[in-house]
Amino acid sequence: MPAIKLSDTVYSVGVQNPDLRIFDIVMRTEFGTTYNSFLIRREKTVLVETSHHNKFEKYLDNIKEVCDPAEIDYIILNHTEPDHSGALAQLMECCPKAKILCSQAAAIYLKNITNCCCKQIQVVKNGDSLDIGGAELSFITAPFLHWPDSMFTYYPAESAVFTCDFLGSHYCCPDIMDSKIDSEENYKSACKNYYDAIFGPFPAYVRAGLEKFEALNASTAYTSHGPVLTTDHLLPYVLEQYKLWSAPKVHEKPLIPIFYVSAYGNTEALGRSIAEGIHSVLDADVPLYNIIEHPMEKLAAQLNESDAFLIGSPTLNKDAVAPVWQLLAHVDAINLAKRPCAVFGSFGWSGEAAANIEQRLSSLKAAVFENNYRIHFVPSKEELAGAVSFGAEFAASLKQ
Ligand code: FEO
Repeated sequence: MPAIKLSDTVYSVGVQNPDLRIFDIVMRTEFGTTYNSFLIRREKTVLVETSHHNKFEKYLDNIKEVCDPAEIDYIILNHTEPDHSGALAQLMECCPKAKILCSQAAAIYLKNITNCCCKQIQVVKNGDSLDIGGAELSFITAPFLHWPDSMFTYYPAESAVFTCDFLGSHYCCPDIMDSKIDSEENYKSACKNYYDAIFGPFPAYVRAGLEKFEALNASTAYTSHGPVLTTDHLLPYVLEQYKLWSAPKVHEKPLIPIFYVSAYGNTEALGRSIAEGIHSVLDADVPLYNIIEHPMEKLAAQLNESDAFLIGSPTLNKDAVAPVWQLLAHVDAINLAKRPCAVFGSFGWSGEAAANIEQRLSSLKAAVFENNYRIHFVPSKEELAGAVSFGAEFAASLKQ
């Protein structure tokens, strides 16, 4: 994608990465992504965001289509994750007079991301503004959308907000405007996947961000990934979806899923008895999931949305089995603190699985039920009755 003039003063100079299939190690990007960057040309020349370091040559060519990089007065970094800041150090060699404007948190991160540029960093605070010649830019902090350093840059002269990751999507198509998207269906799917991965852990911050954005009544959102969103096309849709996705989840009954893995049905039998015990005390929704039979995204969503949960595992190699760790790798660590949980399992030899899972859950600050429930090999009638009691005791602890 070459440089594109988007408005009277704003140019797209970002770079596409249509072949990217994994972003940040864990996020699938079926439709590639874009590293959007924008040049504003007024009396002052302002660059908003940079690009990934591995696209630097193309990125510099795009900037040069619009101006000599040495003319750039300001570089605004709304967020410092390396897909936005990775090209900064190299770029600074071409624009010696540029000042880097960013939040306080971003200034701290940038020092160690670029290992240079410190003297050119200028911290901006919420509400600060910048005269760029016949117009102003103002800065609005937007913490945890999705890093502590995140902010928006508002450009009232053109009713536009540079929203950085917020409202973005990993979606790459030949043109950057939402009016020219090649497949709305694919875009909407990418938008949801992006929201889940990037903003799913931060619903309260998303609601705060939506309030700030809507208070500006802007007609254009220059996102840092995917299409630029406008009120005439996809911006209303994306705002509505963000409201829907970030709304507080209210369960009619407590949701207490039980996740387990079971080699010979013994841990599964314990899980069923524990569910019976929970039902004897609470009117709760207690779905049982054999971890290897369901998509991990679905299981992670259930766990992250739960009011409490249990995990059961046999012991293999002195540890819980791999699918359990996979599930725990998908836990929303930020919101798990104080979440009640309990652990159980059948074991054959040494039986370390339960303690290892408990240790991991404790490190995530979850409220781990004081006793796990372990039995040796095949549960007897008495041991199944014990599992029922264990479930009842766990459920009773939730009522306290
Ligand atoms: Fe697009 Fe948080 O990086």
